[in-house]
Amino acid sequence: MQENNTELKPIILSGIQPSGQIHIGHLTGAIRNWVDLQDKYKCYYTIVDLHAITVRQEPAELRRRTLDLAAMFIACGVDPDKCTLFIQSHVPEHAQLAWVLNTFTGMGECSRMTQFKDKSEQHEDNINVGLFTYPVLMASDILLYQADLVPVGEDQKQHLELSRNLAHRFNHYYSDTFKVPNPFIPQVGARIMSLQEPTKKMSKSDENEKGSIFLTDSTEQIISKVKRAVTDSGSEVRYDIVNKPGIANLMSLYQIATGFSYKQIESDFDGLGYGEFKPKVAKAVADYIAPIRESYLSLRKDETKLKEILTKGAENARKQAFKTLRKVYKKIGFVQF
Ligand code: TYM
Repeated sequence: MQENNTELKPIILSGIQPSGQIHIGHLTGAIRNWVDLQDKYKCYYTIVDLHAITVRQEPAELRRRTLDLAAMFIACGVDPDKCTLFIQSHVPEHAQLAWVLNTFTGMGECSRMTQFKDKSEQHEDNINVGLFTYPVLMASDILLYQADLVPVGEDQKQHLELSRNLAHRFNHYYSDTFKVPNPFIPQVGARIMSLQEPTKKMSKSDENEKGSIFLTDSTEQIISKVKRAVTDSGSEVRYDIVNKPGIANLMSLYQIATGFSYKQIESDFDGLGYGEFKPKVAKAVADYIAPIRESYLSLRKDETKLKEILTKGAENARKQAFKTLRKVYKKIGFVQF
Protein backbone atom coordinates (compact mmCIF):
# COMPACT_ATOMS: atom_id res chain seq x y z
CA MET A 1 0.00 0.00 0.00
CA GLN A 2 1.00 3.64 -0.21
CA GLU A 3 4.10 4.55 1.74
CA ASN A 4 3.99 7.46 4.20
CA ASN A 5 6.15 9.76 2.10
CA THR A 6 3.49 9.66 -0.65
CA GLU A 7 1.59 12.36 1.23
CA LEU A 8 3.66 15.08 -0.45
CA LYS A 9 3.48 13.65 -3.92
CA PRO A 10 1.07 14.99 -6.54
CA ILE A 11 -1.95 12.80 -7.10
CA ILE A 12 -3.06 10.68 -10.04
CA LEU A 13 -6.37 8.99 -10.63
CA SER A 14 -7.39 6.90 -13.60
CA GLY A 15 -9.75 4.04 -14.39
CA ILE A 16 -10.85 1.45 -16.91
CA GLN A 17 -14.24 -0.18 -17.39
CA PRO A 18 -14.53 -3.94 -16.90
CA SER A 19 -16.94 -4.05 -19.81
CA GLY A 20 -15.04 -6.05 -22.39
CA GLN A 21 -11.68 -7.54 -23.22
CA ILE A 22 -8.74 -5.31 -22.53
CA HIS A 23 -6.74 -4.45 -25.66
CA ILE A 24 -3.45 -2.88 -26.64
CA GLY A 25 -5.04 0.60 -26.88
CA HIS A 26 -5.78 0.52 -23.14
CA LEU A 27 -2.15 -0.30 -22.52
CA THR A 28 -0.70 2.39 -24.80
CA GLY A 29 -3.29 5.08 -24.04
CA ALA A 30 -3.42 4.64 -20.28
CA ILE A 31 -1.75 1.79 -18.39
CA ARG A 32 1.76 2.39 -19.72
CA ASN A 33 1.64 5.86 -18.24
CA TRP A 34 0.13 4.58 -15.01
CA VAL A 35 3.21 2.42 -14.61
CA ASP A 36 5.66 5.15 -15.64
CA LEU A 37 4.18 7.62 -13.17
CA GLN A 38 3.72 5.37 -10.16
CA ASP A 39 7.04 6.23 -8.51
CA LYS A 40 6.63 9.99 -8.68
CA TYR A 41 2.93 10.30 -7.86
CA LYS A 42 0.46 9.09 -5.30
CA CYS A 43 -1.67 6.92 -7.57
CA TYR A 44 -5.25 5.72 -7.43
CA TYR A 45 -6.20 3.25 -10.15
CA THR A 46 -9.75 1.98 -10.30
CA ILE A 47 -11.88 -0.58 -12.07
CA VAL A 48 -14.98 1.43 -12.87
CA ASP A 49 -17.79 -1.09 -12.57
CA LEU A 50 -20.42 1.62 -11.92
CA HIS A 51 -19.60 3.04 -15.33
CA ALA A 52 -19.75 -0.39 -16.95
CA ILE A 53 -23.41 -0.92 -16.08
CA THR A 54 -24.48 2.01 -18.25
CA VAL A 55 -24.48 -0.76 -20.87
CA ARG A 56 -26.21 -4.05 -19.91
CA GLN A 57 -23.75 -6.54 -18.41
CA GLU A 58 -24.17 -10.22 -17.68
CA PRO A 59 -23.63 -10.39 -13.85
CA ALA A 60 -21.29 -13.42 -13.72
CA GLU A 61 -19.25 -12.01 -16.57
CA LEU A 62 -19.00 -8.58 -14.96
CA ARG A 63 -17.72 -10.19 -11.75
CA ARG A 64 -15.15 -12.24 -13.67
CA ARG A 65 -14.01 -9.32 -15.81
CA THR A 66 -13.54 -7.10 -12.79
CA LEU A 67 -11.02 -9.54 -11.33
CA ASP A 68 -9.50 -10.16 -14.78
CA LEU A 69 -8.81 -6.46 -15.02
CA ALA A 70 -7.19 -6.29 -11.58
CA ALA A 71 -4.83 -9.13 -12.56
CA MET A 72 -4.14 -7.45 -15.89
CA PHE A 73 -3.22 -4.10 -14.30
CA ILE A 74 -0.64 -5.89 -12.17
CA ALA A 75 0.60 -7.96 -15.12
CA CYS A 76 1.18 -4.71 -17.03
CA GLY A 77 3.38 -3.43 -14.21
CA VAL A 78 1.01 -1.58 -11.87
CA ASP A 79 2.49 -2.27 -8.44
CA PRO A 80 -0.10 -2.59 -5.64
CA ASP A 81 2.62 -1.79 -3.13
CA LYS A 82 3.08 1.62 -4.73
CA CYS A 83 -0.50 2.40 -5.84
CA THR A 84 -4.01 2.14 -4.52
CA LEU A 85 -5.84 -0.34 -6.71
CA PHE A 86 -9.57 -0.62 -6.09
CA ILE A 87 -13.03 -1.35 -7.43
CA GLN A 88 -15.16 1.77 -7.86
CA SER A 89 -18.34 0.29 -6.34
CA HIS A 90 -16.41 -0.51 -3.14
CA VAL A 91 -16.16 3.21 -2.46
CA PRO A 92 -19.73 4.54 -2.20
CA GLU A 93 -18.53 8.16 -2.15
CA HIS A 94 -18.15 8.03 -5.96
CA ALA A 95 -21.91 7.72 -6.45
CA GLN A 96 -22.61 10.18 -3.63
CA LEU A 97 -20.43 12.91 -5.10
CA ALA A 98 -21.83 12.19 -8.56
CA TRP A 99 -25.29 13.10 -7.28
CA VAL A 100 -24.04 16.44 -6.02
CA LEU A 101 -22.16 17.18 -9.25
CA ASN A 102 -25.24 16.26 -11.30
CA THR A 103 -26.88 19.32 -9.81
CA PHE A 104 -24.04 21.45 -11.20
CA THR A 105 -24.10 20.00 -14.70
CA GLY A 106 -26.17 21.34 -17.57
CA MET A 107 -28.24 18.99 -19.75
CA GLY A 108 -26.55 20.56 -22.77
CA GLU A 109 -23.09 19.73 -21.44
CA CYS A 110 -23.90 16.04 -21.18
CA SER A 111 -25.69 15.84 -24.51
CA ARG A 112 -22.65 17.28 -26.30
CA MET A 113 -20.40 14.41 -25.19
CA THR A 114 -19.16 12.38 -28.13
CA GLN A 115 -19.09 9.12 -26.15
CA PHE A 116 -22.75 9.61 -25.21
CA LYS A 117 -23.69 10.19 -28.84
CA ASP A 118 -21.71 7.14 -30.00
CA LYS A 119 -23.02 4.83 -27.30
CA SER A 120 -26.61 6.02 -27.83
CA GLU A 121 -26.26 4.98 -31.46
CA GLN A 122 -24.74 1.62 -30.53
CA HIS A 123 -27.38 0.86 -27.89
CA GLU A 124 -30.54 2.43 -29.26
CA ASP A 125 -32.69 0.13 -27.13
CA ASN A 126 -31.09 1.29 -23.87
CA ILE A 127 -30.31 4.99 -23.86
CA ASN A 128 -30.48 5.28 -20.08
CA VAL A 129 -29.97 8.27 -17.80
CA GLY A 130 -26.78 6.68 -16.44
CA LEU A 131 -25.26 6.77 -19.90
CA PHE A 132 -26.18 10.43 -20.09
CA THR A 133 -24.58 11.37 -16.77
CA TYR A 134 -21.63 8.99 -17.21
CA PRO A 135 -19.10 11.88 -17.45
CA VAL A 136 -20.39 13.36 -14.19
CA LEU A 137 -19.57 10.10 -12.40
CA MET A 138 -16.16 10.22 -14.04
CA ALA A 139 -15.67 13.76 -12.74
CA SER A 140 -16.53 12.47 -9.24
CA ASP A 141 -13.92 9.71 -9.55
CA ILE A 142 -11.30 12.32 -10.30
CA LEU A 143 -12.34 15.15 -7.98
CA LEU A 144 -12.84 12.91 -4.92
CA TYR A 145 -9.12 12.20 -4.84
CA GLN A 146 -8.06 15.79 -5.58
CA ALA A 147 -6.16 14.45 -8.58
CA ASP A 148 -3.55 16.65 -10.24
CA LEU A 149 -3.18 14.45 -13.27
CA VAL A 150 -5.36 11.96 -15.14
CA PRO A 151 -3.51 9.66 -17.55
CA VAL A 152 -5.95 8.70 -20.32
CA GLY A 153 -6.20 8.13 -24.06
CA GLU A 154 -7.33 10.88 -26.42
CA ASP A 155 -11.00 9.82 -26.40
CA GLN A 156 -11.34 10.92 -22.76
CA LYS A 157 -10.21 14.51 -23.34
CA GLN A 158 -13.75 15.85 -23.57
CA HIS A 159 -14.75 14.14 -20.30
CA LEU A 160 -11.69 15.62 -18.62
CA GLU A 161 -12.71 19.06 -19.80
CA LEU A 162 -16.08 18.60 -18.09
CA SER A 163 -14.35 17.50 -14.87
CA ARG A 164 -12.27 20.67 -14.97
CA ASN A 165 -15.33 22.83 -15.58
CA LEU A 166 -17.24 21.22 -12.73
CA ALA A 167 -14.31 21.73 -10.35
CA HIS A 168 -14.08 25.41 -11.32
CA ARG A 169 -17.83 25.89 -11.08
CA PHE A 170 -18.14 24.33 -7.61
CA ASN A 171 -15.06 26.18 -6.33
CA HIS A 172 -16.43 29.44 -7.65
CA TYR A 173 -19.93 28.94 -6.24
CA TYR A 174 -18.75 27.93 -2.74
CA SER A 175 -15.01 28.27 -2.15
CA ASP A 176 -11.90 26.30 -3.04
CA THR A 177 -12.86 22.65 -2.66
CA PHE A 178 -11.53 20.65 -5.59
CA LYS A 179 -8.19 20.61 -7.31
CA VAL A 180 -8.60 21.27 -11.04
CA PRO A 181 -7.16 18.18 -12.79
CA ASN A 182 -5.07 18.05 -15.94
CA PRO A 183 -5.20 15.32 -18.58
CA PHE A 184 -2.02 13.36 -19.28
CA ILE A 185 -2.18 12.04 -22.81
CA PRO A 186 0.77 10.14 -24.34
CA GLN A 187 2.54 11.37 -27.47
CA VAL A 188 2.35 7.96 -29.12
CA GLY A 189 -0.46 5.45 -28.64
CA ALA A 190 -3.14 7.87 -27.38
CA ARG A 191 -5.48 6.65 -30.10
CA ILE A 192 -4.82 3.18 -31.48
CA MET A 193 -7.08 2.40 -34.40
CA SER A 194 -8.88 -0.81 -35.39
CA LEU A 195 -6.71 -3.13 -37.49
CA GLN A 196 -9.69 -3.74 -39.74
CA GLU A 197 -10.98 -0.16 -40.03
CA PRO A 198 -8.03 2.14 -39.36
CA THR A 199 -10.19 5.26 -39.29
CA LYS A 200 -12.10 3.88 -36.25
CA LYS A 201 -10.57 3.59 -32.79
CA MET A 202 -9.75 0.11 -31.49
CA SER A 203 -12.60 -0.58 -29.12
CA LYS A 204 -13.74 -3.30 -26.74
CA SER A 205 -17.26 -3.00 -28.11
CA ASP A 206 -16.14 -3.70 -31.69
CA GLU A 207 -17.88 -6.85 -32.89
CA ASN A 208 -15.05 -7.66 -35.26
CA GLU A 209 -12.43 -9.19 -32.95
CA LYS A 210 -9.88 -9.14 -35.77
CA GLY A 211 -9.71 -5.37 -35.38
CA SER A 212 -8.30 -5.56 -31.82
CA ILE A 213 -5.19 -7.01 -30.24
CA PHE A 214 -6.26 -8.25 -26.84
CA LEU A 215 -3.66 -8.52 -24.12
CA THR A 216 -4.72 -12.14 -23.65
CA ASP A 217 -4.23 -13.03 -27.35
CA SER A 218 -1.71 -15.78 -28.13
CA THR A 219 1.38 -15.06 -30.20
CA GLU A 220 -0.23 -16.84 -33.17
CA GLN A 221 -3.42 -14.77 -32.87
CA ILE A 222 -1.46 -11.51 -32.73
CA ILE A 223 0.70 -12.43 -35.70
CA SER A 224 -2.33 -13.41 -37.74
CA LYS A 225 -4.27 -10.22 -36.82
CA VAL A 226 -1.38 -7.90 -37.67
CA LYS A 227 -0.61 -9.68 -40.92
CA ARG A 228 -4.26 -9.31 -41.95
CA ALA A 229 -4.48 -5.68 -40.87
CA VAL A 230 -6.04 -3.44 -43.50
CA THR A 231 -3.39 -1.21 -45.09
CA ASP A 232 -3.59 1.63 -47.55
CA SER A 233 -2.92 1.99 -51.24
CA GLY A 234 0.73 2.34 -52.21
CA SER A 235 3.55 0.43 -50.58
CA GLU A 236 5.78 3.00 -48.92
CA VAL A 237 6.24 2.79 -45.13
CA ARG A 238 5.70 6.43 -44.23
CA TYR A 239 3.93 8.08 -41.27
CA ASP A 240 0.98 9.90 -42.80
CA ILE A 241 -2.09 9.66 -40.63
CA VAL A 242 -4.41 11.30 -43.20
CA ASN A 243 -3.47 9.40 -46.34
CA LYS A 244 -2.06 6.23 -44.77
CA PRO A 245 -4.04 5.62 -41.55
CA GLY A 246 -3.49 1.85 -41.65
CA ILE A 247 0.29 2.08 -41.95
CA ALA A 248 0.45 4.98 -39.47
CA ASN A 249 -1.37 2.79 -36.94
CA LEU A 250 1.01 -0.12 -37.49
CA MET A 251 3.94 2.28 -37.16
CA SER A 252 2.59 3.44 -33.79
CA LEU A 253 2.31 -0.16 -32.62
CA TYR A 254 5.83 -0.88 -33.89
CA GLN A 255 7.21 2.18 -32.16
CA ILE A 256 5.56 1.15 -28.88
CA ALA A 257 6.84 -2.41 -29.12
CA THR A 258 10.42 -1.53 -30.17
CA GLY A 259 11.01 2.05 -29.02
CA PHE A 260 12.12 3.08 -32.56
CA SER A 261 11.07 6.55 -33.67
CA TYR A 262 8.91 7.08 -36.77
CA LYS A 263 11.96 8.53 -38.57
CA GLN A 264 14.01 5.47 -37.75
CA ILE A 265 11.23 3.13 -38.91
CA GLU A 266 10.86 5.05 -42.19
CA SER A 267 14.57 4.85 -42.79
CA ASP A 268 14.82 1.14 -41.87
CA PHE A 269 12.03 0.28 -44.32
CA ASP A 270 13.06 2.71 -47.03
CA GLY A 271 12.68 0.96 -50.39
CA LEU A 272 10.93 -2.01 -48.77
CA GLY A 273 7.16 -2.50 -48.92
CA TYR A 274 4.27 -3.39 -46.62
CA GLY A 275 5.09 -7.06 -47.27
CA GLU A 276 8.38 -6.71 -45.38
CA PHE A 277 7.00 -4.34 -42.74
CA LYS A 278 3.92 -6.23 -41.54
CA PRO A 279 5.66 -9.45 -40.38
CA LYS A 280 8.19 -7.34 -38.45
CA VAL A 281 5.38 -5.44 -36.70
CA ALA A 282 3.53 -8.69 -36.02
CA LYS A 283 6.57 -10.30 -34.38
CA ALA A 284 7.49 -7.18 -32.37
CA VAL A 285 3.96 -6.73 -31.02
CA ALA A 286 3.62 -10.44 -30.21
CA ASP A 287 6.94 -10.37 -28.32
CA TYR A 288 5.84 -7.23 -26.47
CA ILE A 289 2.55 -8.76 -25.32
CA ALA A 290 3.82 -12.29 -24.50
CA PRO A 291 5.33 -11.53 -21.05
CA ILE A 292 2.20 -9.55 -20.06
CA ARG A 293 -0.04 -12.44 -21.04
CA GLU A 294 2.12 -14.99 -19.21
CA SER A 295 2.22 -12.89 -16.07
CA TYR A 296 -1.55 -12.28 -16.27
CA LEU A 297 -2.32 -16.00 -16.54
CA SER A 298 -0.31 -16.72 -13.44
CA LEU A 299 -1.67 -13.77 -11.38
CA ARG A 300 -5.27 -14.48 -12.34
CA LYS A 301 -5.12 -17.92 -10.70
CA ASP A 302 -4.69 -16.46 -7.22
CA GLU A 303 -8.09 -14.88 -6.55
CA THR A 304 -7.46 -14.75 -2.81
CA LYS A 305 -4.46 -12.50 -3.36
CA LEU A 306 -6.36 -10.29 -5.83
CA LYS A 307 -9.24 -9.87 -3.39
CA GLU A 308 -6.80 -9.00 -0.62
CA ILE A 309 -5.19 -6.29 -2.78
CA LEU A 310 -8.56 -4.86 -3.80
CA THR A 311 -9.92 -4.89 -0.24
CA LYS A 312 -6.90 -2.99 1.06
CA GLY A 313 -7.13 -0.65 -1.93
CA ALA A 314 -10.77 0.21 -1.21
CA GLU A 315 -10.00 0.87 2.46
CA ASN A 316 -7.24 3.22 1.48
CA ALA A 317 -9.27 4.96 -1.22
CA ARG A 318 -12.20 5.49 1.15
CA LYS A 319 -10.04 7.48 3.54
CA GLN A 320 -9.43 10.16 0.91
CA ALA A 321 -12.89 9.91 -0.66
CA PHE A 322 -14.60 10.37 2.70
CA LYS A 323 -12.52 13.46 3.45
CA THR A 324 -13.50 15.18 0.20
CA LEU A 325 -17.16 14.23 0.42
CA ARG A 326 -17.44 15.54 3.98
CA LYS A 327 -15.96 18.83 2.84
CA VAL A 328 -18.45 19.01 -0.04
CA TYR A 329 -21.46 18.18 2.15
CA LYS A 330 -20.40 20.83 4.65
CA LYS A 331 -20.09 23.51 1.97
CA ILE A 332 -23.46 22.65 0.50
CA GLY A 333 -25.15 22.99 3.86
CA PHE A 334 -26.01 19.40 4.72
CA VAL A 335 -26.39 18.93 8.46
CA GLN A 336 -23.48 17.00 9.90
CA PHE A 337 -23.43 15.66 13.45
P1 TYM B 1 -12.28 2.95 -21.15
O1 TYM B 1 -12.52 1.83 -20.20
O2 TYM B 1 -13.06 3.01 -22.40
O3 TYM B 1 -10.75 2.98 -21.58
C1 TYM B 1 -9.73 2.97 -20.60
C2 TYM B 1 -8.56 3.82 -21.02
O4 TYM B 1 -8.01 3.37 -22.26
C3 TYM B 1 -7.96 4.41 -23.20
N1 TYM B 1 -8.27 3.84 -24.53
C4 TYM B 1 -7.47 3.98 -25.60
N2 TYM B 1 -6.28 4.58 -25.75
C5 TYM B 1 -5.71 4.52 -26.99
N3 TYM B 1 -6.29 3.90 -28.07
C6 TYM B 1 -7.48 3.28 -27.94
N4 TYM B 1 -8.03 2.67 -28.99
C7 TYM B 1 -8.13 3.30 -26.66
N5 TYM B 1 -9.30 2.79 -26.19
C8 TYM B 1 -9.36 3.14 -24.89
C9 TYM B 1 -9.04 5.39 -22.76
O5 TYM B 1 -8.78 6.69 -23.22
C10 TYM B 1 -8.94 5.28 -21.26
O6 TYM B 1 -7.91 6.11 -20.75
N6 TYM B 1 -14.48 6.85 -19.06
C11 TYM B 1 -13.31 6.01 -19.00
C12 TYM B 1 -13.13 5.29 -17.70
C13 TYM B 1 -13.10 6.18 -16.49
C14 TYM B 1 -12.04 7.04 -16.11
C15 TYM B 1 -12.46 7.63 -14.88
C16 TYM B 1 -10.80 7.33 -16.68
C17 TYM B 1 -14.07 6.29 -15.55
N7 TYM B 1 -13.69 7.15 -14.58
C18 TYM B 1 -11.65 8.55 -14.23
C19 TYM B 1 -10.00 8.27 -15.99
C20 TYM B 1 -10.42 8.86 -14.80
C21 TYM B 1 -13.44 4.99 -20.10
O7 TYM B 1 -14.48 4.72 -20.63
O8 TYM B 1 -12.32 4.33 -20.36
